[in-house]
Amino acid sequence: MKAQIGVVGLAVMGQNLALNIARNGYSVAVYNRTAERTKKFVEERVKAEKILPSYDLQHFVQSIERPRKIILMVKAGTPVDEMIEELLPFLERGDLLIDAGNSHYADTNRRLDKLSEHGILYLGTGVSGGEYGALHGPSIMPGGTLQAYKLVEDVFLKIAAKTEDGPCCTYVGNRSAGHFVKMVHNGIEYAIMQAISEIYDLMRKVLKMNSEEIGQVFERWNNGELSSFLVEITYKIMRRIDEETNKPLVELILDKAEQKGTGKWTAQTALDLGVPTPSLSTAVFARTISHFKEQREQLSKIFGEKHKVNADKSLLQDLEKSLLFAVFLSFSQGLWLISEASVAYNYNIDLLEVLRIWKGGCIIRAKLLDFLRRILKENPQNVNLLASETAMNFLKEKLPSVLKVSSVAREASLPMPVLSSCIDYLFSLTEENLPANLIQAQRDFFGAHTFERIDKEGTFHVEWQELE
Ligand SMILES: NC(=O)c1ccc[n+]([C@@H]2O[C@H](COP(=O)([O-])OP(=O)(O)OC[C@H]3O[C@@H](n4cnc5c(N)ncnc54)[C@H](OP(=O)(O)O)[C@@H]3O)[C@@H](O)[C@H]2O)c1
Repeated sequence: MKAQIGVVGLAVMGQNLALNIARNGYSVAVYNRTAERTKKFVEERVKAEKILPSYDLQHFVQSIERPRKIILMVKAGTPVDEMIEELLPFLERGDLLIDAGNSHYADTNRRLDKLSEHGILYLGTGVSGGEYGALHGPSIMPGGTLQAYKLVEDVFLKIAAKTEDGPCCTYVGNRSAGHFVKMVHNGIEYAIMQAISEIYDLMRKVLKMNSEEIGQVFERWNNGELSSFLVEITYKIMRRIDEETNKPLVELILDKAEQKGTGKWTAQTALDLGVPTPSLSTAVFARTISHFKEQREQLSKIFGEKHKVNADKSLLQDLEKSLLFAVFLSFSQGLWLISEASVAYNYNIDLLEVLRIWKGGCIIRAKLLDFLRRILKENPQNVNLLASETAMNFLKEKLPSVLKVSSVAREASLPMPVLSSCIDYLFSLTEENLPANLIQAQRDFFGAHTFERIDKEGTFHVEWQELE
């Protein structure tokens, strides 16, 4: 009997995805470069599931029914190219490769074109939800041709997370649309994680709350408008006690945050496309700065003691509103980027569908997504959510709290890069008259770059100084 689908790459994500697919009634062939990992997987995790291990790549490919559908769940980057090279001699026209890792969208376009020359279909597919999601239902973002998607639609719809709005999978769009949307998803994830951390920092340093108390607040918030996966894991993290020391584990973790690249790619892409995503970009820099631990230790000594600020627990309601403000603006910046990319790269992405499939399974699932969908439904032509009166009223209602929190943080010399960037983003976009006139004059002064005028059409240059 041949397997209905194959999975290559049996680290955490590949194993869980294979088990999820098998649990949904499909037979799955599995292969991993290092045979030991396959053996361990079969011995320790496979029970009654229809999983057929292979220790030879040709055997693996031949054990799958045609047209073959093979999911690659290997490390992003050159390993994907290497796997494709190895698989190619055994594949036949009409077979489908699905890259379900976090590949860069430009790589996906390149691979798609190369494989199409061989008659092989290719789907660049974002998968979000971590190892738990992969096993119990992720959010799946496939991009490529609709014909390729249709070959695996039934499997994807079955294994995806489910919400009252349906399975968290949709055909995202042409070419690398799926990986692009997953990249921006991660960019938004960086910003929300940073915003939560900034609020946590203020709670512990200004409100002098301990981890248990902070956990209680996040748990309460998770029952309200802020209900989301990232707020939920935050209160769970606050509760975890280290067995060795009996202290909250979070207090023992070094303040250096790692990154794998998707946040950086989002920021780079936003700069390339000329779309403002300051909160997503600054969240990447916040992780970068966290890495300079030794330098921060030295500089904190030179800077000296920071101002002691007194604030009472009534600030908590302002913190809740500030977090909502930051989460909303992080999503809206990311959506604007997706919508510009959709036009620039002919992705043809339906933003409402993207928001729908982010409602379950994925790391940025949040109650707020329903509100975002409502705004988008009311104004489907707006690429920028802020153009909606409903959105603006939501933000303006939060603003007094956000400004209060920002001023407390500033007085205490506490960094709040994402929250601050959100304030400036809102103030900049709602400012009719920015000081960019001066920048234009400066550019023309030293580089003859010319400027436009407000009182007449055309491009102008003046001699600002005597050259001789
Ligand atoms: N971890 C998560 O929460 C998460 C969430 C969403 C998406 N992703 C993405 O999903 C993909 C898989 O993630 P992961 O965390 O499960 O695993 P990973 O640590 O990113 O990659 C390990 C897997 O890649 C294989 N591999 C590495 N280099 C290879 C090469 N040159 N040729 C063939 N195979 C190679 C490894 O095989 P060996 O056993 O032989 O070394 C192993 O199966 C990645 O793209 C990741 O970014 C991960």
